[in-house]
Formats: sequence, structure tokens, C-alpha cells
Amino acid sequence: MRQLNNIASIRQAIREKRMAGLRCVLVPTMGNLHAGHISLVRKARELGDCVVVSIFVNPLQFGANEDLDSYPRTLEDDIKKLQHEGVELVFAPTANEMYPNGQHQMTRVEVPYFNAILCGDSRPGHFDGVTTVVCKLLNLVQPDAAVFGEKDFQQLFIIRRMVADLSLPVDIVGAPIVREPDGLAMSSRNQYLSSSERKLAAALSRVLHETRDKCQSAGRNPDTWQAAKQQASTVLAEIGFRLDYLELRDTGNLMEPAADSHELVLLAAAYLGNTRLIDNLCFSIEP
Ligand code: PAF
Repeated sequence: MRQLNNIASIRQAIREKRMAGLRCVLVPTMGNLHAGHISLVRKARELGDCVVVSIFVNPLQFGANEDLDSYPRTLEDDIKKLQHEGVELVFAPTANEMYPNGQHQMTRVEVPYFNAILCGDSRPGHFDGVTTVVCKLLNLVQPDAAVFGEKDFQQLFIIRRMVADLSLPVDIVGAPIVREPDGLAMSSRNQYLSSSERKLAAALSRVLHETRDKCQSAGRNPDTWQAAKQQASTVLAEIGFRLDYLELRDTGNLMEPAADSHELVLLAAAYLGNTRLIDNLCFSIEP
């Protein structure tokens, strides 16, 4: 495995892989790798012969009051895990390498409307930071495919939209959420939870599953969906969550479900103490 820290060297390494006829698959990460990330690496392995993992805590996607400085940085451990997975290339640039002209005047890529709803409403600028760095990484690596976790459902939706709108020649592949045994979706931010918060945290996925069951058994009945959503919000608040949002959307356009919507997703963001957790659950409603 080769670890490269600058743009010229990753470009050269990729060129060599391509000349050898290898299909390259990128897994963009911010490091602090857990089993969720490893599942993305394994998905990438299924899709190609050369797996490239980027590790970059992207300052552009953190708001002024967010956890950029305290975000866990564990490069040495991450490298060991990737070596164990047989990853070919790791790209771990500095912020200066990625944004040599500074962050403030950096050209941005934005996906309007979708960058401002749901998580974008409470994290203004966050998705512009994500799309800007992902666009840049796709340009640098020029992979055949790139893999993203479905836990960040809105992020994946927005990246797909960016790739379609800009006709970027890459397949965007989603990989299923990996959960702890009690159902909590894996996330680097779970380690911010105190032990009592950690015990409560699993309720987020439990409530999503219960709400999905109610919606599915109600069939195409928007009044029942609204009531189920309302009840879920109340239950989560009673448990101790400070809810940012809990919404039911059409997976195809992230809008409120229409009369003929078939594939739906429950999306939630909620705080336990200072830790913001997100989770989602996709399901079908029979026509
Ligand atoms: O999902 C993440 O870890 C980040 O948002 C990403 C896609 C690596 C961009 O920084």
C-alpha cells in the first residue's frame, strides 16, 4: 500500500494504475475509520482492482461552531486498518495541499435547494463544503466508481445530483448502513457520547424502525404517516433527544411523499447532549 500526501503524486500513482489497465474505485473519508468505513472499502474492492481511500478532515464542511478542531484524527491506526484490507493507495493531503489559496476564496460547487433542506437547514454551507471537496477528489483521482455510505442519505443524494448535473464520468455507489448490535448507526461522532447517552442513543434507530412499521401497515395513508412521525418525535423527546428533524420523504426527490410515491425514507437528526446523531430508514409502500 502506498500513502501519498500531495496531488502530483496521487495523480502519478493513478496514472500508473490506469496504464496497467486497472479499474480504480475511490472511497472518500475523513478518517477515524470504523466498521462502517471498512464496509465501504470492501464494497470498493468488489467494484474494482485498485482501491483508493482518501483521508481528509475537510474544513470547508464544518460550520464555525462545529467540531473541526476536536474531530478525531487517527491516521496511524487508519493506515493499519487499510493495510489489513489490502488497499492499494491512500491519499491523505493537508488542508494547504487541497486549498492552497485559502478556504475563503476557494471555488465552490453547490447543489441548490437540496443543500438547504433537512441537515442543510441546520448546517448552512455544510453540503457546499462536501460537494466542493468530493468534486475535487473525483477530479484528482478520476475513479471509475466512488463509494459513499447510505447513513449520510442526503449527502449521497446530493453527490449523485452533482455528478449528474456536471456529467462527471463516475459511478456513485451507495453502501448500506452498518449498525452496532443495539441498532445505533456507526459514526465517528458516537465516541463523543457519554456512557449514559450511549445507552439512550440506540433509541433513535429503534424509533425509526417502529415508525416505518406503522407507516407500512397503514399503507398509502398520509394522515397515519403524519401521526406516526409526530408520535416518534414525542417519544424521542421523552427519551432525552433534542430533535433537529424527523421527516418522511420520497427517496427519488427528497420531497414530501406524493400520492403515488413508492420508495420512502424516514430521516432523523437529533442531539443527545452536544452530540448530533443522524440516521435513516428506507422502505417501500405497496402501490
Ligand atoms: O462522509 C464523509 O465522511 C465526508 O462528508 C466526505 C464524503 C468524505 C467528504 O469530506
